[in-house]
Amino acid sequence: SRSIRLAVIPGDGIGQEVVAQGLKVLTAVLPQDVKLETKEYDLGARRWHATGETLPDEELESLKQHDALLLGAIGDPSVPSGVLERGLLLKLRFAFDHFVNLRPSKLFPNTSTPLAGRPDIDFVVVREGTEGPYTGNGGSLRTGTPAEVATEVSLNTAYGVERVVRDAYERANARPRKKLTLVHKNNVLVYAGHMWKNIFDKVGQEYPEVTTDYLHVDAATIFFVTQPERFDVIVTDNLFGDILTDLAAAVTGGIGLAASGNINPTGEFPSMFEPVHGSAPDIAGTGKADPTATVLSVALLLRHLGYAPQAARIEEAVAADLEARGDAPRTTDEIGDALAARVAG
Ligand code: IPM
Ligand code: MN
Repeated sequence: SRSIRLAVIPGDGIGQEVVAQGLKVLTAVLPQDVKLETKEYDLGARRWHATGETLPDEELESLKQHDALLLGAIGDPSVPSGVLERGLLLKLRFAFDHFVNLRPSKLFPNTSTPLAGRPDIDFVVVREGTEGPYTGNGGSLRTGTPAEVATEVSLNTAYGVERVVRDAYERANARPRKKLTLVHKNNVLVYAGHMWKNIFDKVGQEYPEVTTDYLHVDAATIFFVTQPERFDVIVTDNLFGDILTDLAAAVTGGIGLAASGNINPTGEFPSMFEPVHGSAPDIAGTGKADPTATVLSVALLLRHLGYAPQAARIEEAVAADLEARGDAPRTTDEIGDALAARVAG
């Protein structure tokens, strides 16, 4: 019989609360014959305060022995900025070679968005996940003095760009509209920008059915707001993708609905699924966090593991739940219960 070995990293702040709902819905949607084995990892701010560790090698090894990872959120104001982000979250993305950071956006019903009532918005950002300015390739001289100099070098390899661009073409080719937009800034970032564009054009020759487009990232932000329906699949670098996907979330229903998958398409390492939002320490423990983004991340996880019908059930449940919701605010738990009931029923 089938089984899913799932590593769970609730993490910080609202991470704990939203992950609990994600697991609730996962359990409810899985067929009886699928055995779900979860192992929870105590990683994040609490662990760092207690032991000084962010992600020890043994934990990394142990995490690797899973089919997938579900992560809540990482980051806490009591920990210096960057310690957990680099030492835990980015370390996982790099160690498990999550070169495709998949961030879909759909305009969900009944959400407060500046774009409500617009034609269907349904696009997916393929954000490069292992290179760009995220590699930690930088430094500072005369730190803290008025003469300080700091660099943060964006690393782009032909190997890294080509593999993510090819993945994006594959995804575009599999969608009805078959349109792929490269977003970069090659009028200023001429070295990396031209390399991305050249590779994009070269790989495109293998996908004659895919219509292509190029936008500078600043122009893309305008179109995200004024003409989001022009997008189908977008491929872009790590930092541009980070910024664009927050904007995408904001205009398509809010960050509380935005799901993501950090994917290693080769299957060499487990992929990791997490809401796009952060740990929201200001509302942690209040029951106000919306677990929908985590639940939708569980749908991405299921699709990745070959449970497409179950993934679709979750996405339909979310749409129906948003459609049916009233004006009264609901707690994290209530939303999780409602979604679990819908996927089970
Ligand atoms: C995200 C987050 C992370 C990123 C941070 C927390 C390192 O903003 O997942 O989008 O920049 O990738
Ligand atoms: Mn981000």
